[in-house]
Amino acid sequence: MAGQSRIDPWASQQSTDYTRIRDNFGLSEVEISKIPNPNQLHRRGIIFAHRDLDVILGCIERGDKFGVLTGLMPSGRMHLGHSMVIDQVKWFQNQGGDITVTVADLESLATRGTSLEEGRKIALSEYIHNYAALGLDPDKTNVYFQSMRPEVQRLGFTLGKKTNLSEFEAIYGFSGSTNLAHVQAPLVQAGDIIHPQLDEYGGLRPIVVPVGVDQDPHIRLTRGLASKTNWFNLKPRKSGGITIGLSIQDDNKPEMGVNLTGGIDRKIREDLFTKLQLSLSNLGFADVLTNPKHGTLEIPGAVKNDIARIRLSLLALERNLGGMGLMPPCSTYHRFAVGMTGDKMSSSKPETTIFMHDSIEDMSKKVKRAHSGGQATVEEHRRLGGDLSKDVAYQYLQFFFEESDSELSSIARDYESGRLLAGEIKQICIDKASEWLTDLSEKREQWTDRIDEFIAPDSK
Ligand code: TRP
Repeated sequence: MAGQSRIDPWASQQSTDYTRIRDNFGLSEVEISKIPNPNQLHRRGIIFAHRDLDVILGCIERGDKFGVLTGLMPSGRMHLGHSMVIDQVKWFQNQGGDITVTVADLESLATRGTSLEEGRKIALSEYIHNYAALGLDPDKTNVYFQSMRPEVQRLGFTLGKKTNLSEFEAIYGFSGSTNLAHVQAPLVQAGDIIHPQLDEYGGLRPIVVPVGVDQDPHIRLTRGLASKTNWFNLKPRKSGGITIGLSIQDDNKPEMGVNLTGGIDRKIREDLFTKLQLSLSNLGFADVLTNPKHGTLEIPGAVKNDIARIRLSLLALERNLGGMGLMPPCSTYHRFAVGMTGDKMSSSKPETTIFMHDSIEDMSKKVKRAHSGGQATVEEHRRLGGDLSKDVAYQYLQFFFEESDSELSSIARDYESGRLLAGEIKQICIDKASEWLTDLSEKREQWTDRIDEFIAPDSK
């Protein structure tokens, strides 16, 4: 490594692990070149995977509406790891998304035994206060509490009809002794994720859920539940283009033109196809092949990029006909920050992370003790250079504290070439982190009496 300078210092992250996570979970890789105005966040690879991010990128490109929903567990103290999700949220906010923040007070009650009252206190003083200081815009942000929004719980209940215990066993490993509150929590979370699409909460639009990858099981569940409610299915057509098929369900038979004996009501079916055709021609697809009897419609000219727009117009039609018209959520996943000690970051081990309320003194102690990528002796270090991939101070600069790309690259170069010693990079980290924490606490100060501005009317 000696003398080798790296233009792209973050390439040294353990990318293989993330490749494995992506493969195991069936996630897509973020294509940086497709991201408009890629800011530092993306070039540093904080977001390493996604589901259907293209749908949101399409909205950004066309200036169409989209929403962002994320959630927090109001238990324990907020630390740097938690702020990564806010970095993602802010990026979407800057691209025009409206923001909904779930306070998972019911989940916290179910899984951590936090009372609703305690959960509320922690959410406001630890999380929302810091979110404000980190730069969420109150005019674009709505914070609500699970326990105070009946529509979310109702939706969770309704979506529950589309799943069963076996699926929960498979996804979450639940068994006979699983506490039922744990079974309910994922359904409430599905309600959280879907509900911004309801007319009262902004209406039909794509919703992206930025989370840590540990939340992917919930995303997968929710996407499946939403799809199962859909009245129209979209599939790629073998010979190119897209096929739309009717999904006939117990509660939509009359609208789908299926009569009581299970036969087709031709008049209703043909009316339905006229409406479908009209929706599609409004999007510019005049050339469609219909087969009302089989309940299929083909659009030979449609390409992959058209799918989201077509889906949205079908969902709008479904809503007009009396269906729920729910779009499966999109998601993005950030990397896990390494703990100060080199292993996992955890709230229960304060030495592994920096808390938003840490004093400069506490922070400095932690950084000084942090796992280093330096060599055993100064001589060796000068000769071999430091190892960025193992150096926690460097990674904290990269993910949290150093905003300037050129500054970061130059630190990386100096460290890898051995010019910069382990103690020196730690000092840089301490200086930058001090600035960061001081700035955060000043901004927090400014918001102390104004947190209410973030809270939705139903959750005040
Ligand atoms: N389950 C999440 C956690 O453990 C909290 C949460 C609840 C959430 N509802 C959500 C996260 C909706 C994202 C979206 O932290």
